Amino acid sequence: MSAPPSKWTRRDWIRASLIAGAAAGAGAVVGATAYSQLFPPTSRSEGELRQSFVYLSFPEDVWWNRFAGQDVRVTDFQDWQGALAVWNGRFKDGNWVSGTGYPALIIRLKRDDRYFQAPTDVPLPAGYSLAFDDPSRDLRIVAIFNRSTHLCCYPDWHVPHAIAPARDYIAPCPTYEVFGQDPIFDVCHGGQWDPLILEWAVNPQSGTRYVGARMVHGPGFGPLPALFVRAEQDVLYGEVFDPVWYSYCG
Ligand code: FES
Repeated sequence: MSAPPSKWTRRDWIRASLIAGAAAGAGAVVGATAYSQLFPPTSRSEGELRQSFVYLSFPEDVWWNRFAGQDVRVTDFQDWQGALAVWNGRFKDGNWVSGTGYPALIIRLKRDDRYFQAPTDVPLPAGYSLAFDDPSRDLRIVAIFNRSTHLCCYPDWHVPHAIAPARDYIAPCPTYEVFGQDPIFDVCHGGQWDPLILEWAVNPQSGTRYVGARMVHGPGFGPLPALFVRAEQDVLYGEVFDPVWYSYCG
């Protein structure tokens, strides 16, 4: 397989998702091989490491493509807008080095304390939170790790697909049931996660406790892990407490 393009098309992304998902389903060793073929390790030490979230280009006709390669700013989003970004990614000559960093969905939630839930006993790094929260501007933004807890496809947020997300949820889903917004959706096999509900769960592969966006439709072993966030001059930065939270894709 050839190296992935520096600018992904929708077809590239879905094909990579399906290959990564199939590889993960075939076992960890095979999965690791396929993943390394998708994302050549020779490229991983090149370039500048960026601790801000940076927009990644994706399919045609998504609002954030015009920001690709730029820092995510908390003022970029309307209520319920989301975007694909990368944290801790490497950039060379201004271009993302494919496969580096943590892919993330950045989502501005409707700021309504009646429905947002997040645990208060998380050992957060100094200055970071599970959600960027600014009551004065009515902003609340979360960053959710973008690898499915089923077979590691790349879910997305409000990107049109030929297949609509099912609404027979397995758990309360206020994002749809209260606000009429579809949750995070993985078109590979239909998994869905609600970014309004951050909760503790256990990764059955590693036994590690972690916090993530509630799984409201299977398949998958549980929530999508959350990344910690803070803003500095409105640029959104990320952090992790324990990389094990995110290491289930081989
Ligand atoms: S890989 Fe199957 S639902 Fe995500």
